[in-house]
Amino acid sequence: MKEQLEKIFANATEDLAKATSINDIEEIRGKYLSRKGEFNEIKKNLKNLSNDDKRIVGSLANEITKKLEEGLKAKHDEFYRKELNEKLKQERIDVTLPGKYTQMGRVHPLTSTTNEITAIFQSLGFSVVPQANAPEVETEYFNFDALNVPKDHPARDVQDTFYTEIAKNVVLRSQTSNAQIHAMEGKNPPIRIISPGRVYRNENINARKNNFFHQIEGLYVDKDITFGDLKGVLNEFIRTYFGASRPTRFRSSFFPFTEPSAEVDVQCIMCEGKGCRTCSGTGWLEVLGCGMVDPNVLRGVGIDPDVYTGFAFGMGVERLAMLKYAIDDIRLFFNDDVRFLKQF
Ligand code: DAH
Repeated sequence: MKEQLEKIFANATEDLAKATSINDIEEIRGKYLSRKGEFNEIKKNLKNLSNDDKRIVGSLANEITKKLEEGLKAKHDEFYRKELNEKLKQERIDVTLPGKYTQMGRVHPLTSTTNEITAIFQSLGFSVVPQANAPEVETEYFNFDALNVPKDHPARDVQDTFYTEIAKNVVLRSQTSNAQIHAMEGKNPPIRIISPGRVYRNENINARKNNFFHQIEGLYVDKDITFGDLKGVLNEFIRTYFGASRPTRFRSSFFPFTEPSAEVDVQCIMCEGKGCRTCSGTGWLEVLGCGMVDPNVLRGVGIDPDVYTGFAFGMGVERLAMLKYAIDDIRLFFNDDVRFLKQF
């Protein structure tokens, strides 16, 4: 039996020497050490031996199986490491490679400026009217007549306003003020709206002027609305948009649809009021037009000016963005140069 054991051990050692993979190791383990393996067969016969022999052969069997197990483990570890290394080499990831670059879209500066301005007025209780309620293709009635613009006003000239071929009286709106008329017609005050959108003018294009641009119109009509309300709302807007420390002034002006009318200036952001090219030496920059809604306009839309009053205002989005971000050419907004757009 002793010889038998030694013979099996010699075979197992030989098998082990020939093994080349973890699979081979597991096969050898099955062949010799499993329940049906060769060593177990021998151990089953131990019971036929004398007690003394049992002890000798038993301990030899244990010693040999232990050695074999150690041999298997050593080989197993060796193959495991080798196979792992190979796998790592094949699946190697170079963490220093640059990542995949995905292009990120950005919000256009005119959109973000519009959003910023509308958010300020929304916080003051104004609601935004849908674009559909203030069309860009408009009749002269909404763009001029209902806004008290006289028939011979120079703004109506073809050199200032684009007339379409749809009909004689259909224009591309030259101001967002048409939104005022749409907001008031057939409705009862209180009316408190703002309306952002695009407007068109027949201009020669240069650094300051484009033949389309964006405005935001505002209107508040109710009982007992005063010029003090107008100043309160617009001062609050300018303080929020330009910063609380920026000085402002209201300067009297004229618009056909407001009486009295004013323009609002902020102290020049380039020279802090000293006078420079941007402010033409005045130290002030005009940022919006406003006024108390002319009684003629209210009457035209069926609102009794003896009961209701209101104020209106309009501002250019490009101008406000240019002032805030010190942009010196309006055309930059429209020629899709990513080097410009990337900065916002
Ligand atoms: N519509 C005027 C423009 O395009 C701006 C404006 C001035 C709008 C006074 C108003 C206003 O609502 O009250 O120059």
